[in-house]
Amino acid sequence: MKRKDFLKGTGALAAGLAMTRDLKAADFGRLLHDAAGQGDEYFWDVIRDQFLLEKGWTFLNFGGLGACPLPVLNSLAEWMRVEELSPSAGFDAKEWAAVKVKLAAVLGPSCKPEELALVSGATEGIGMIINGLTLKPGDEVITSTHEHGAINSAFLHRHMRDGVVIKVFEPDRQSGLGNLDRIASLITPRTRLIMFSHVTCTTGQLFPVKEIGKLAHDKGIWFGLDGAQAPVCTPFDITDIGADFYVCSSHKWLMGPKRTGFIYIRTGLLDAVRPMIGGLTNLDIRKPYAEINPTMSRFENGTQNEALFFAMGKACDFVQEIGIPRIFTRAHGMSEAFVAGLRTIPGVELLSPQEEAYRTCMTGFRMKTKTMKEIGDHLAANKIRARLVGEGGLNGIRISFFLNNKPSDVDLALDCIKKLAV
Ligand SMILES: Cc1ncc(COP(=O)(O)O)c(C=O)c1O
Repeated sequence: MKRKDFLKGTGALAAGLAMTRDLKAADFGRLLHDAAGQGDEYFWDVIRDQFLLEKGWTFLNFGGLGACPLPVLNSLAEWMRVEELSPSAGFDAKEWAAVKVKLAAVLGPSCKPEELALVSGATEGIGMIINGLTLKPGDEVITSTHEHGAINSAFLHRHMRDGVVIKVFEPDRQSGLGNLDRIASLITPRTRLIMFSHVTCTTGQLFPVKEIGKLAHDKGIWFGLDGAQAPVCTPFDITDIGADFYVCSSHKWLMGPKRTGFIYIRTGLLDAVRPMIGGLTNLDIRKPYAEINPTMSRFENGTQNEALFFAMGKACDFVQEIGIPRIFTRAHGMSEAFVAGLRTIPGVELLSPQEEAYRTCMTGFRMKTKTMKEIGDHLAANKIRARLVGEGGLNGIRISFFLNNKPSDVDLALDCIKKLAV
């Protein structure tokens, strides 16, 4: 769909859906500007008002599935409506490229839009990287025991299909840099790929990725990161951390529409990853594929729901307008208050790293006398949404604080857990 069609459709939509909340969201930048100078809590109230999140519930699970703010929802509805005015195959290349420019800016000042492909999420991206790399029987890969099923299943498939050997390290939660030694001790001359979570889904642990990336590169090993939990949840510069491959779902902390995400392949490595599925490119079957489409768009398969990705661009605008460092400071501050409170509750064990530098906006904990299900049920009965953590045999709970939360949510969650502890 073309930009002019979009503008035409938007007018029609505005006439049809002139709801107060839509109007409120119409100019988010202006709302923020007006909120400036009226106090920090007022500023965050304005942002909180951009979410449809069910009243009466305390939503502490952005790490599970994020919520889209109104500017993103409105953009999605507008673009979808316009598409239906005159359905056309393919996508608006100019608008598509503009989304990548916005996304690259979120990922760091030297990230290039050409290093990005838009995909459905981390699971698809992980499959593309792990299945796309050339690995021979006996080649070794290193990952952690705290990975999401998306990484585990992709590696297990390669193990079963190609005889790739999987080696695992248990994340060191006492010493962040201890992870470097754990990984180093697994490296052999057969190690080809180190790939694990930038931020774990289990305990919100941030790894010293820059140091691990250097270790990998010094030994000629590929370094991939599953960033499903990282962008916006922790500030970073994708070029600086040295990842060769990076994948992410933008429907979590980036607040894009469900089933949007991206893969990043560092400049120079495009041909290391063989596309497993074809694309829309007009191919001459007599020529090598790489010659015909030497860009990241070779990973953008088939017909797209372009509205999803154009609205993802709007999500990038949303986080940039607020400021990623500002969002992180706020959310991490609440998480730290929560960690401090947890430490005072008898029978509670913190599962997140001991050093603050490796903690993010998610906290993992468990209780000596309660199962994760008992804690989860108790939280749900008190209208608190959190996530149970069975991975790695943790039997714990994960709590995410984000821009939808207020400091009183920390007390609410702590009080609720305290009641279970007595
Ligand atoms: C670390 C990690 N990797 C991968 C995924 C899979 O993401 P998706 O289901 O959006 O593809 C998740 C989802 O929670 C995750 O936390």
